[in-house]
Formats: sequence, structure tokens, C-alpha cells
Amino acid sequence: MRNIKTPRTRLRGLVTEDLTSLIELMQDNDIVKHTGWRKPMAEDIIAEKLEAWKALEGNLGVWGAEHLADKELVGWFMMRYVEDQAPELGFMIRKKYWQQGFASEIAGTLLDYGHHELKLQKILAQCDRTNIASQKTLERCGMSLVREDDETCFYESCQNY
Ligand SMILES: CC(C)(COP(=O)(O)OP(=O)(O)OC[C@H]1O[C@@H](n2cnc3c(N)ncnc32)[C@H](O)[C@@H]1OP(=O)(O)O)[C@@H](O)C(=O)NCCC(=O)NCCS
Repeated sequence: MRNIKTPRTRLRGLVTEDLTSLIELMQDNDIVKHTGWRKPMAEDIIAEKLEAWKALEGNLGVWGAEHLADKELVGWFMMRYVEDQAPELGFMIRKKYWQQGFASEIAGTLLDYGHHELKLQKILAQCDRTNIASQKTLERCGMSLVREDDETCFYESCQNY
């Protein structure tokens, strides 16, 4: 998968050595409670997920965001087709890096890459109505709220080519 630079991180394919950081992320209830998993994941499931993500090929997928200065994993970001006709953006940031602008910096860079390099016309994202941090991140990156139901906010970023 293509490496992408942001001002403070390098987005790269995930590697086996990321497992410890992914376990820290995906076993943290505060982090997973707003995601599709809802509950902390077992280590073997996280290891399977890592293998599946490592095997993704092409221009879209799941990236590890590595901090340029300390080389640690800041979090993971996905931009890929899930169920919809357009790719979906998603992310998780390790707690020690929260509220320092990393999610907006990296998600914004991925949206630019998707639209301007891959010429994607539409990129989607969704989050819980109670997930204010995620809503603010998506809005700060320029995504528009297009629909909401009782539980979920649906966002889009569109470019005409
Ligand atoms: C959502 C998440 C990725 C945000 O990461 P982050 O790096 O802290 O976000 P940023 O620092 O770029 O902040 C972006 C905006 O969100 C706001 N924000 C961040 N955390 C917040 C919080 N806990 N409460 C309220 N606002 C918050 C920031 O103030 C900023 O808003 P602004 O543009 O008005 O200043 C991070 O909290 C996280 O990993 N959460 C758990 C996983 C998750 O919810 N993923 C998304 C599932 S859809």
C-alpha cells in the first residue's frame, strides 16, 4: 500500500510489530465503544484483523499512522470500500495522542489523497450521534453531514471530476 506523509506522521501499511499498539487501542473501552465493535476485542481477534489488513492490496486500505518524531503508532486509519458504493473513512487514535489535531490532520490528508490523486468523487463516513469527537473531526476535515437517524450521523465529501 502507498505510503503517505502528513505534517507529523507517515501513513504506511500495518506490520506484525504493530500488534501491541493495536491491542492497546482495540481493548480500550473508551476507544471502541463508539465503533462498530462496541466492546474491547480479544487478542486473537485483533491479531486476525491485523493479518487481514496487512493482506489488503491496492490504493485503498488500512494504514498505520506512525509518528515521525517518536516512531510510535498514533493510530490506524481506513479508507476503503466496506458495504457502500463509495469508500468509507474511519479511524482510531491512541489515547496519548488525543486532542492534538492528529485525527483531523491525517483524515484531511487521506481525503485529499482520495479526491485529488485517486479521483474519487465521493468518500463516506459515519459515526454515532453521541461521538462528538468524531463528528468534530469529520467536520473539521470538510466533510458534510448529509443525514442522521436516531443513532448515527452520515457524512460525505464530494468532488466533481
Ligand atoms: C475521534 C478521534 C479519532 C479524534 O481524534 P483526535 O486526534 O483527538 O482529534 P483532533 O485532535 O483532530 O480533534 C478534532 C476535533 O474534535 C474535537 N475533539 C477531540 N476530542 C474530543 C472530545 N473528547 N470531546 C469533544 N471534542 C473533541 C477537537 O476539539 C477538534 O474540534 P475543533 O475542530 O472544533 O477544534 C479520537 O477521539 C478517537 O480515536 N476516538 C475513539 C475511536 C473513534 O471514535 N473513532 C471514530 C469512529 S466513527
